[in-house]
Amino acid sequence: PGETSAKLLLFGATGDLSRRMLLPSLYALHADGLVPDALQIIGTARSEMSDEEFRQMARDALEEYLPDDRKDADALASFPDRLSYQALDASTIEGFDVLAEKVGDTSGGLSIFLSTAPFLFEPTIKGLKSAGLAGDNVRIGLEKPLGNDLASSREINDAVAAVFPEDRIFRIDHYLGKETVQNLMALRFANMLFEPVWNAAHIEHVQITISETVGLEGRAGFYDDTGALRDMVQNHMLQLLALTAMEPPSDFDSTAIRDEKVKVLRALRPLQPDQSVRGQYGDGAVGGQSVGSYAQDLEDSSKTETFVALKAHVDNWRWQGVPFYLRTGKRLTERRSEIVVQFRCVPHNIFAQRGGQLQANTLVIRLQPEEYVRLLVMAKEPGLDGEKVTLREVPLDLSLSQAFAGKRRRIAYERLLLDLIEGDQTLFVRRDEVEAQWQWIDAIRAGWAESGEAPKSYPAGSWGPSAAIALTERDGVSWNE
Ligand code: BG6
Repeated sequence: PGETSAKLLLFGATGDLSRRMLLPSLYALHADGLVPDALQIIGTARSEMSDEEFRQMARDALEEYLPDDRKDADALASFPDRLSYQALDASTIEGFDVLAEKVGDTSGGLSIFLSTAPFLFEPTIKGLKSAGLAGDNVRIGLEKPLGNDLASSREINDAVAAVFPEDRIFRIDHYLGKETVQNLMALRFANMLFEPVWNAAHIEHVQITISETVGLEGRAGFYDDTGALRDMVQNHMLQLLALTAMEPPSDFDSTAIRDEKVKVLRALRPLQPDQSVRGQYGDGAVGGQSVGSYAQDLEDSSKTETFVALKAHVDNWRWQGVPFYLRTGKRLTERRSEIVVQFRCVPHNIFAQRGGQLQANTLVIRLQPEEYVRLLVMAKEPGLDGEKVTLREVPLDLSLSQAFAGKRRRIAYERLLLDLIEGDQTLFVRRDEVEAQWQWIDAIRAGWAESGEAPKSYPAGSWGPSAAIALTERDGVSWNE
């Protein structure tokens, strides 16, 4: 970690992410005394607004998005004192001079966070440089999407690299800020139990699911240009896969961890055409509510996928022959993010003669909505059954909210904004990772373009198209439902 910045400059400060996540996260850090008393937060966006109007916008956002038990009168009253605002037209250099004047002295360090459309990244970086806001003690955080394919992500990365060295670039993948994701590393590397069996000899397959019940959420234009593969798999799911599959790093530090993750991403085998399924939701019902189809939500017909299921392989010694099944989609049955590690069966069932049926062990790492780690193990059902031995699968449960009762569940951005301000890159994505991710994703998209197949329709409120079930069933595997 570096020096803690004295100032934070937030681009896109009036946007949806800022109001829903960034301002509430900064408020939480403020309320818990985790940021320096002197930290000043300067917001910028296109709209003309006075400092006071921006503070009022922040108050309204906190009122709307903070859970009631987080509303502390004193902290709510004092938080806006940190805020000021400067309107900016990012396409002109003069705009940045005015901004630099507003930011003022940066000798105490400045962290910048770009939560803007990616087409603004390049002009913004140039503007920052020309206005003297890119010195040695300035860090830059970038919100996704970082491009929409390898070529465009390289262009963005080049533009940023022309002004900031890699050790001052903080690429966000908000999944890395989730507590359970970090817990995955603790589980694997702070316990003796798992690592010796964490390989192809003992693991049969891995499943990663991020299912959502929401539809387009007012982002129709963006989403239709993006689709589930690029919106979710390219970043969040591949990061989960990399953390699950990586070798033990030698240290809990940003270089060691990211070195190991990138090796996994580079070892992803290019997908065969029959190893991916695309879907798009039709009408149906989610949580008892009737909902329209994607085409109805979009008010247009489209070939964009709102669901994708993949069968991936990591081509290295540890994972040879172990499928990683990934699936994600909108308007599915339930909201759930989880990693399921399916172990192999024991080599010989000594209970067979006595009627004891065995199931292989399963480890479920649930990220949301609940946070838990659950190991399903075989146990003998109590009772005197004569010769018979009845075995049953029972969970060894680690509920993180119970084990750490009294510890508040934080939003991912609290962690990530604090790390940006403090200069810790461990939970941020390095350039080589992003590019390895895009390379693999681009090849999948090229395969789809070649086949010309439209996504398969699935009813809203289901688990996706039946082809996604067939994708695992033909290997004798069922999705964890
Ligand atoms: C975002 C995607 O990156 O992640 C959204 O753009 C998606 O489409 C969101 O809804 C899911 O995040 P979470 O934290 O709610 O699982």
